[in-house]
Amino acid sequence: MRILVYRADSAIDLWAGDLRAALPQADIVTWREGEAPGHCDYAVLWAPTPAVLEALSEVKAIFLMGAGADAILKHRDALPSAPIVRVGDAGMGIQMAEYVTHAVLRYYRRFEDYEKQARRGIWQSLPLPPKEDFTVGVLGAGALGSRVLAALAPFGFPLRAWSRTPKRIDGVECFNGRAELDAFLRGTRVLVCMLPLTPDTANLLDRANLSKLPQGAYLINVARGAHVAEPDLLTLIRSGHIAGATLDVFRHEPLPAPHPFWEEPRITMTPHISGTTVRGESIIQIVGKIDALERGETVADVVDRNRGY
Ligand code: NAP
Ligand code: GLV
Repeated sequence: MRILVYRADSAIDLWAGDLRAALPQADIVTWREGEAPGHCDYAVLWAPTPAVLEALSEVKAIFLMGAGADAILKHRDALPSAPIVRVGDAGMGIQMAEYVTHAVLRYYRRFEDYEKQARRGIWQSLPLPPKEDFTVGVLGAGALGSRVLAALAPFGFPLRAWSRTPKRIDGVECFNGRAELDAFLRGTRVLVCMLPLTPDTANLLDRANLSKLPQGAYLINVARGAHVAEPDLLTLIRSGHIAGATLDVFRHEPLPAPHPFWEEPRITMTPHISGTTVRGESIIQIVGKIDALERGETVADVVDRNRGY
């Protein structure tokens, strides 16, 4: 069995090495620009260029090194017909739960304000917002969104989720589809974006939709930068309608040096680390799925090209 490995950064060799260790009987080859890889049975990759995809016309399946499929699906014209299989949680859910829980509690318990007070030598307790008004609304209730909702449940915040299809989640008020988006947003104090980036969800968090959040709302974006209309978010933060944002993802990454977000103290930023791929767990998942496919079985986490996720 021949498996092609591709990603643009130096982690390509770590992936190839770990795949060789996990599949000693397989021939693991890395794709380099300008080289013809020859026939491959499977590909394991991240953010391929069209040139990489053109070399994969015969593979039986393409495994992504992450959860989001947007970076491959954007090359629609170059996509081979093989199924595209993404990582399903594999250690990302717990990281997302840590990240989002921290951000929600930081806003609720007013740690931002205490940090400012401490720098000014002020010793003063601050009132908390009523918990019943501090509704956390999660956009996307899939593998990662549902893990975050479960992590938030013990704290007692009212929880709500928005998905494409109807859902029932214990202790969570569920909304679905565009028809229910306004109602979802109007009652959400902390908006957490955990959606895949698709033609339907790009720019969803624009001025019109962010304005539907109540005055003093917060945004936590751990999905993709292109969900947010960045100038609109800045406008609403500067007007005070949005009290603060925690952003892990940006339209252009790394965030360019002259960017107004760097100057805005009410925006907390991290460099796309909310849910990093755990290579070991992901490779176990990929190897299990290759075995299943070789036995003629179906596998989970196949990307639906029409839905875009
Ligand atoms: P998933 O299991 O496919 O879940 C996606 C959720 O979004 C589902 O609940 C789905 O609804 C909902 N959804 C999709 N399109 C929608 C629409 N048009 N309207 C309403 N809801 C919609 O994906 P996941 O594994 O949770 O990952 C979600 C995203 O997180 C990834 O695509 C990736 O972009 C991002 N991510 C970011 C990081 C990071 O480090 N920042 C790490 C990993 C992943 P249904 O349930 O009805 O299908
Ligand atoms: C990371 O952003 C992923 O989609 O796995």
